Amino acid sequence: MKIYFLSWVYLSFGGVIGAAELNIGQPKQSGEPSEYKLNDFTSQERKILRSYGVPVDNSAEFESFLTHLRAGHEKSAETGQVSMVWEYLLTAVQSLPTELRMNKWIKAFIFQGVNITEQLAAGKYSISELKAVYRQAQPPEGLLPKDLIAFLDRRVDELKNIRGMEPNIATTHLKRSFMTDRYMVHVFLEAIKNDSDKLRKKRLRELIKSRMGSTPHESVSDIEQVVQELLIEASEHEIRLMTFDDYSFEGDPLRTGTDFIYTAALRELVRVDGDSLLPEKIRRILVIGPGVSMVVVDDLKNPRQMIEPFALLDILLESQKIDLSNLQIHLLDISQDVSEHVQYLKAAAKQNKPISLALGLKHSQKKSPIFSEHFRELGRSIQGAVITEDLAITSFYQARKKIQIPSEIVLKLRMIEGDMTTTNFSHLESYDLIICFNTLVYLNEQERALAGVGIRKALSQNGCFIANNGLSKKSDPTIELLGNDYLSLIQKKVYKDYPPESVRALPPAMKGSQLWVYKKGS
Ligand SMILES: C[S@@+](CC[C@H](N)C(=O)[O-])C[C@H]1O[C@@H](n2cnc3c(N)ncnc32)[C@H](O)[C@@H]1O
Repeated sequence: MKIYFLSWVYLSFGGVIGAAELNIGQPKQSGEPSEYKLNDFTSQERKILRSYGVPVDNSAEFESFLTHLRAGHEKSAETGQVSMVWEYLLTAVQSLPTELRMNKWIKAFIFQGVNITEQLAAGKYSISELKAVYRQAQPPEGLLPKDLIAFLDRRVDELKNIRGMEPNIATTHLKRSFMTDRYMVHVFLEAIKNDSDKLRKKRLRELIKSRMGSTPHESVSDIEQVVQELLIEASEHEIRLMTFDDYSFEGDPLRTGTDFIYTAALRELVRVDGDSLLPEKIRRILVIGPGVSMVVVDDLKNPRQMIEPFALLDILLESQKIDLSNLQIHLLDISQDVSEHVQYLKAAAKQNKPISLALGLKHSQKKSPIFSEHFRELGRSIQGAVITEDLAITSFYQARKKIQIPSEIVLKLRMIEGDMTTTNFSHLESYDLIICFNTLVYLNEQERALAGVGIRKALSQNGCFIANNGLSKKSDPTIELLGNDYLSLIQKKVYKDYPPESVRALPPAMKGSQLWVYKKGS
């Protein structure tokens, strides 16, 4: 099996990388938003920007400032691509036999205080049992017995190493060594080999290939080496997300990850206050930073997915705020991955191929009525959506469901690949609703001023801008991210009951997902 597996790695990296699987990266259409010029701004807007230190007195200086800004964000987005390696591995690990999963051990050893040495001595420890099984019997498909046993031995050593450590530090230590172990390189490459999502497969291979340098014939060990380095690099960025006390999006790298739970509070807001806050009829919507998740729920059978625009549509349809026949939904995102995903969705929709979202409600999320309700409702207001529910409880999920989105809905999306701080997205459109979730946190105050002025320009007269400000540690969620000098804040609402582990580090008054609703001032 190993020879076959390695020769696949070798051959496929030699030949297949770079072959276009979808018609992506076409030239930009005319009329697409362009980078700001200084004379796009009124004197009032310049005054606001000047107060935030943006150089608005000289065109050349202004443009060079923006070029620099965008280059910095693009670099950060590029680094963020390594995050997808991490997400991908996390999913690949979930397909391993339960006994091999890290969480189970961590729960036993760290949180339930099971004594490792005693367990080992008594022969009760599952690793010992597992090793015995693998020594005698055929291993499960895809697993390499010798390497697996060596991997398990390394885990036992790690478990001895954590004695006396703080639970959080021990958890991080165990997870990092588990995820960056050389055995995981095989798990990772095996998952790519079997991946049914061709675009994702191509994307990962390209990433590995880009790290290989220019050698024409890479050896298997070169590939394995590069993958392990990628896993180690990803662990540097991702490790803080693994511990419970520091869950936040902001910072470097810029992640595209997304989850349906972030729109849960929006459903609540629209249900309770939609009539007073939102324009009567919404025709044009802009979603800034919709994101795309590399993996979903619990297997690699689902393609990458984007949830936010469809969740938003579902919420607005439920409230009867939109008329689908006249609706336009624009998506603005700096990430090439997001843009490619939208093109993939539209290409599939044009051929009438089904687009499915796969959602999972985690055990901790079930405790929040807002999350449970959103999970239950999502998709029900989209006419023609096919919903398949799976109520089986797994170690990760309380329940799962798939929503097949009708092609007509997918075809309403239009992608704008751009930076929200430097792109003039007000050019042609006037949006009745702009939403931006888990994205403003990436910007500093000056960048947010640019984004805010742009949002104000792009809103229709009664237009609304809604941003969330939860799950943020560096920026205090109770402090508004956009200044009142360019948009009036009309409502700030705190939704309690965020999963306790995600906000453990915050004082009680700050816990909750916070939505901020702005209306264009006169
Ligand atoms: C963490 S994801 C959030 C995804 C989704 N909104 C959610 O809350 O689930 C942040 C998204 O914002 C995009 N983004 C970050 N900075 C941006 C910028 N300056 N301009 C445009 N998009 C940006 C990223 O590429 C990414 O897709």
